[in-house]
Amino acid sequence: MGYSACIVAAGGGERAGGGTPKQFRTLAGRAMLSWSVERFANDPACEQIIIAHAADQARDVETCLKGVQVDLVQGGESRTASVRNALALAHCDHVLIHDAARPLLTQGLIDRLRDALSSHDGAAPALAVSDALAREDEAGVTPVSRDALFRIQTPQAFRTEPLREAFANAQTDFPDEVSLARAQGLDVVLTQGEEANFKVTYPQDFERAEQLLALPASQTPSVAVVTGMGYDVHRMEAGDGVHLCGVFIECPYHLIGHSDADAGLHAITDALLGASGLGDIGDHFPPSDDQWKGADSAMFLKHAVKIARDAGVRPVHVDVTLICERPKIGPHKVNMKHRIAEIMDLDPRRVNIKATTTEKLGFTGRGEGLAAEAIVTGALS
Ligand code: CTP
Ligand code: MG
Repeated sequence: MGYSACIVAAGGGERAGGGTPKQFRTLAGRAMLSWSVERFANDPACEQIIIAHAADQARDVETCLKGVQVDLVQGGESRTASVRNALALAHCDHVLIHDAARPLLTQGLIDRLRDALSSHDGAAPALAVSDALAREDEAGVTPVSRDALFRIQTPQAFRTEPLREAFANAQTDFPDEVSLARAQGLDVVLTQGEEANFKVTYPQDFERAEQLLALPASQTPSVAVVTGMGYDVHRMEAGDGVHLCGVFIECPYHLIGHSDADAGLHAITDALLGASGLGDIGDHFPPSDDQWKGADSAMFLKHAVKIARDAGVRPVHVDVTLICERPKIGPHKVNMKHRIAEIMDLDPRRVNIKATTTEKLGFTGRGEGLAAEAIVTGALS
């Protein structure tokens, strides 16, 4: 499922000083805001970017966009007010709210948050406190236990409707969306935060951010690439249709198998498991297990996507070759592409379907069976 990203950039940056609000100051060659914009623009699952800015700063925001399409909205007096205005424009079912002052967010952070939304209303990255803590007041210095204390970062991810409702009911400003959502009873979980994803707040923070952004890994959204290949064959007999790449094709054949015998989805599942170092489809869904009898193979692939993500691999591209004389694949390629993209949460442009015959040679040529090959490319997050 895609998401809307709301970047709040309407603050005055008082603590950072320096005249220009911090989100428009240059860091490693470009404005701080444009780092977050680029990160979201590079994520195929991000369907909308909304930026909340101060009334007189629309022009400054536009210079940060470099051709990326965004929706601009005026921010408010407080961070809560700025988020409220941005949220009104969000058209996806999930929303990620992010500080423009955190230019070092990563795809891994985004992926962990999105995964958490499958079972929670909201999620935010958090880091344990490592320093000793103390409170100082008239009574002097009192140590405070750091047990169960966390530092909360952004992006903060939510199911859009419950969050909108929470904002509608909130009577005051809150430091962030987690605190507002919790005050309204939403179920929020903490995911792993990242030290580098710190909020540029004070003058000395610029140098640290600049150094981290200048590292090659920050300049390139995904540096480490993994690949896996899959191959599957199913026997063919007379029947009333075949399941291939998630699409049912009416034809006088039938593929024999324990599940729905979708050789295309099986080859992709194996390729993804291969790219993730997670064995093969039989390890996860043994054919001896009766519960997979007649199963929709989309379920196998969805499960593989989930465990691949848990293992730190995000599929980014799929290339499939179907090998058969019949049925004709050409008329179904577009539907297959979209169905696979939907199952794997990919942009359809990142799914390619090819088909070939074997010139009537071999078992595919004689129509005894159909074969499928797939290569999946993944990014390490
Ligand atoms: N923000 C906002 N609208 C406000 C206040 C803050 O959109 N009325 C945004 C900031 O632009 C920033 C994020 O919220 O991206 C986090 O806020 P903070 O780090 O406090 O930024 P500033 O408020 O700009 O800084 P300061 O508090 O030092 O003035
Ligand atoms: Mg502030």
